[in-house]
Amino acid sequence: MRYGHFDDEGREYVITRPDTPLPWINYLGSEAYFGIISNTAGGYSFYRDARLRRLTRYRYNNAPLDLGGRYVYLRDDESGEYFSPSWQPTQREVDDYSCRHGLGYSIIGSSYKGIRGEALYFVPLGENLEIWRIRVTNDRRTPAKVSLFDSVEFCLWEALEDNTNFQRNYSTGQVEVEDGVIYHKTEYRERRDHFAFFACSAPLAGFETQRDAFLGAYRGWDRPIAVETGKASDSIAHGWQPMGAHHVKLDLAPGETREVIVLLGYQENPRDDKFDPAGSQTINKKRVKPVIARYLQPAAVEKAFTDLRDHWTNMLGILQVRTGSEHVDRMVNIWNAYQCMVTFNLSRSASGFESGIGRGMGFRDSNQDLLGFVHMVPTRARERILDIAATQLPTGGAYHQYQPLTKRGNNDVGGGFNDDPAWLVLGVAAYLKETGDTSILDEPVPYDNKPDTETPLYEHLQRSIQYTLDRVGPHGLPLIGRADWNDCLNLNCFSETPGESFQTTENKGGGVAESVFVGGLFVLAADEMAAIARRHGDEAEVKLATDASASMTKIVETAGWDGSWFRRAYDYFGRVVGSDECPEGSIFIEPQGMCIVAGIGLQNGMADKALASVAERLATPHGIVLNNPAFTYYHLELGEISTYPEGYKENAGIFCHTNPWIMIAEAMAGHPDKALDYYMRINPSAREEISDVHRCEPYVYAQMIAGKDAPTHGEAKNSWLSGTAAWNFVAISQWILGIRAEYDGLRIDPALPADWDGFSVTRRFRGARYEITVHKPKGAVGRVTRLTVDGRAVPGNLLTAPTRPGQSFVVEAFVE
Ligand code: BGC
Ligand code: NOJ
Repeated sequence: MRYGHFDDEGREYVITRPDTPLPWINYLGSEAYFGIISNTAGGYSFYRDARLRRLTRYRYNNAPLDLGGRYVYLRDDESGEYFSPSWQPTQREVDDYSCRHGLGYSIIGSSYKGIRGEALYFVPLGENLEIWRIRVTNDRRTPAKVSLFDSVEFCLWEALEDNTNFQRNYSTGQVEVEDGVIYHKTEYRERRDHFAFFACSAPLAGFETQRDAFLGAYRGWDRPIAVETGKASDSIAHGWQPMGAHHVKLDLAPGETREVIVLLGYQENPRDDKFDPAGSQTINKKRVKPVIARYLQPAAVEKAFTDLRDHWTNMLGILQVRTGSEHVDRMVNIWNAYQCMVTFNLSRSASGFESGIGRGMGFRDSNQDLLGFVHMVPTRARERILDIAATQLPTGGAYHQYQPLTKRGNNDVGGGFNDDPAWLVLGVAAYLKETGDTSILDEPVPYDNKPDTETPLYEHLQRSIQYTLDRVGPHGLPLIGRADWNDCLNLNCFSETPGESFQTTENKGGGVAESVFVGGLFVLAADEMAAIARRHGDEAEVKLATDASASMTKIVETAGWDGSWFRRAYDYFGRVVGSDECPEGSIFIEPQGMCIVAGIGLQNGMADKALASVAERLATPHGIVLNNPAFTYYHLELGEISTYPEGYKENAGIFCHTNPWIMIAEAMAGHPDKALDYYMRINPSAREEISDVHRCEPYVYAQMIAGKDAPTHGEAKNSWLSGTAAWNFVAISQWILGIRAEYDGLRIDPALPADWDGFSVTRRFRGARYEITVHKPKGAVGRVTRLTVDGRAVPGNLLTAPTRPGQSFVVEAFVE
C-alpha cells in the first residue's frame, strides 16, 4: 500500500493523504539555517546547531507524534469554520490534500468547503531565513471573507534548557513588535547577540506573541481561541511561552487567489552595535530590515525559489544515470544524493528520531557522509575535513562527536571508539580521489582545536594509522576500546547501573578485547594511506602502511577467521565473539562486509565462503540482519547490543548502513546479481508498494528495518540521518554501476547483473564532462575490458584525469 507517488520529472515525492504511518519529513536549508518539515507542516528550525541555536519548538514523542510546526489556519469569517491546509493541527476532513516534498522545499495544501490553501516552504540559498509563500484561493461561486493566521512557537534558543529549566524559562521570554514584524529576543538583553524575526507581507488585523493568549487556557494547537473567535489580542509576551502569529483578513472574489508571504529568520548583530538607539534595550534592526523588505516581495521569492531549483539541477547534474530501472535511477539521480546532502549537513543531529539535542557531528559519521557527497560540494567537503581533523587528539584518537556551532569535540557524548581515526583517512582519500587537490595534505590543522599544535593534515593521517598500531591486543588485532563501528558492542563496559550511558560510562582497562572489524577497516585505511603517501613522496610511510596492511591481513585471515565466516571480536576475557562456538551472535555482518571491502579473502576463497554464510544466515527479503542468532538476554560482557529486544537496532536488526558493504563485497567477488539483489531489498523506492509495512518515507533510507526476529519484521525506523545514505550511494554508483573516482582518473568498472544490457551515465569530474555508455550483451557478467574515448580505443577501464577544465568526452565502455 502507498501513501503517494514519485514525480521523477518534478523531483518530488507527492503524498496524497496526510495520515502517513509516521510523519514523513523533509529538510529546508543546506548551509547554516535549517528546518525539518513533515508532510503535515510539523517540525522546527535552527541556526547551525539544533541544540544550541534552536528557533522554534517541537514536541518529540507527543501524541499525535508530530506536534509543533509552521501552522497556518484559514477561517471562513462568515461561518466561523476554520481548517489548516496542512491538515494538522486542526485535522479537518480536507479535500485534495497533497504534500510535495522536493529538494530543499515542501509544498503542502488542501481545500475545505471551497477555500483552498497552499504553502510553499523553503530557505533561500545563502540566507538565514525561511519563506512560507501562502496562497489562498476562493473556489466558490460567491465572494469569501477569510481570516488567515500563521503561527510559530519560539524556542528559548538552547533546546535542552528549553525543555527542562522551566523555573527560569517561564520568566525570561521577551519580544518586540515593530511594523507588524515579531522579533523574538529572549536573552538578547544579556549575552546573546542574536534574535529571530517573524514577518508577514500583508497588512495585519492583529497579532499574538504570547502562546496562552493565542491558544487560550487548556486549549491545544487544534483550536486556538484567536482562530476560533477570529480575533487576535495583540499580546506582548513577558515570560511564559513566546510565540508569533499574524492575523490577516482577505476578501476574496470568486476564483480569486491571494498570496501572503511569511518569513521566519535568524539574525546576529555585532556585540557593540546590538541596540538602537545605543544605550537602549531595543534591538538594532538596521541590518535585518532590508533582508525582510526584500523577501516580502513576490518577485524576490520567485527568484530565490528558481535559484534553489537551479542549484539542485546543477549539483545533481554531476552524476546522472539512465539504467532502465526506475528504482536505481530515481535514488541515484535524486533522492539518495539528496539524503547524502542532508546527512553531510546534519550528521546524526536532527530528525524526527534525533532530537537535535543529544548528538552533534559524529567523527566517524561525518567522514562517512563525505563519501556520498564529496563530488557535489568538494569545497565544503574540504572545509569539513579540516573541521573534523581539528578535533582529533594528539594521540591520533578522536572525540566521538563535536558540536556544529562551536566545532569543538564534545566529551559528554563519549570517546575511545577505536575505529574513529581510520575513517579520517578514508574521508580524505575520497576527497583526493574526487578532486586531485593534494594541497589539502599540507594544510596546518591543530589537535583538539588547541592553538600552536598545528601539523599538516598529512600528519593527522599518519597519527590515525599509528593510533591503531599502538593499540593491538593478544592476537595482534586492533583493540576495540569503547566500541567500534557498532556503538553497541561494548566489550569493556560491564554496565550494571540502570540508565547509565554505554557511550560514556567508565570502561574497564585490560587491553584484551579486540575487533576483527577494525582489523578489516585498518587494512582498507592503511592501503589508502600507502597510496596517499606515495603521492606525497613519503616512501617511509608507504612502507610502514603497506607492511602494516599485509600483516594485519594475515592476522585477520587467521585469528579473525572462523571456518565459514569472519569472526567479530575477542571479548574482555579473550573469548571469541561471532563464532560458530557462540550460541547467540554466532555471525555478524560487519566483518564480512568490511574485511572483503578491504580486499581480504578475495583470492583465497574466504570471501566467497563468508558471503555464502551471509546469504544463508543473515539475509532476509527485507535486507540483511546484523547478527544471528539474536541475543535473547542481556550479556553483561557484550554491552548495549544485547539490551535491544531481538530484531531491533544493533541486535539483529537490518542495520541498513552495513548492507552496502555486502553489496560492494558481492560486486568485488564477482557476483553482480547478488549485489543488485541486496541493493533492491532495502532501496526505499523499491519498497514503496509496502509502505504500510515499511512505514517510513519511501524516498529515503532509514537506519534500521526490523529484523526477522522482531514481531514487526520489515518495519523501518530512524529515517534520514544514517550512514546508510552515503554507503548505498557508494555501493550503487561506484561498485555496481562502477563509476569510481580514483587518484589518477575515473574508473569505469561496472558489475552488472546478467539481465542488464548496459546503461548510460553523465559524470562531471575534475572540471570535465563525460558522456559514458556501457554496452553489455544480456547474459554476460564480466567486466569492462576496453573503452573508446571520442572514438579512440583505450586499453583497460581507466579514464585518465582530464588535463584541462571544460573538456568534454564521449566514452563507450564494453563488457564482453
Ligand atoms: C544506538 C546506536 C547509536 C548509539 C549512540 C545506541 O543506542 O543503538 O545506533 O549509535 O546509541 O547514540
Ligand atoms: C549510529 C551511529 O551514528 C554510527 O556511528 C554507528 O556506527 C551506528 N549507529 C552503529 O552502532
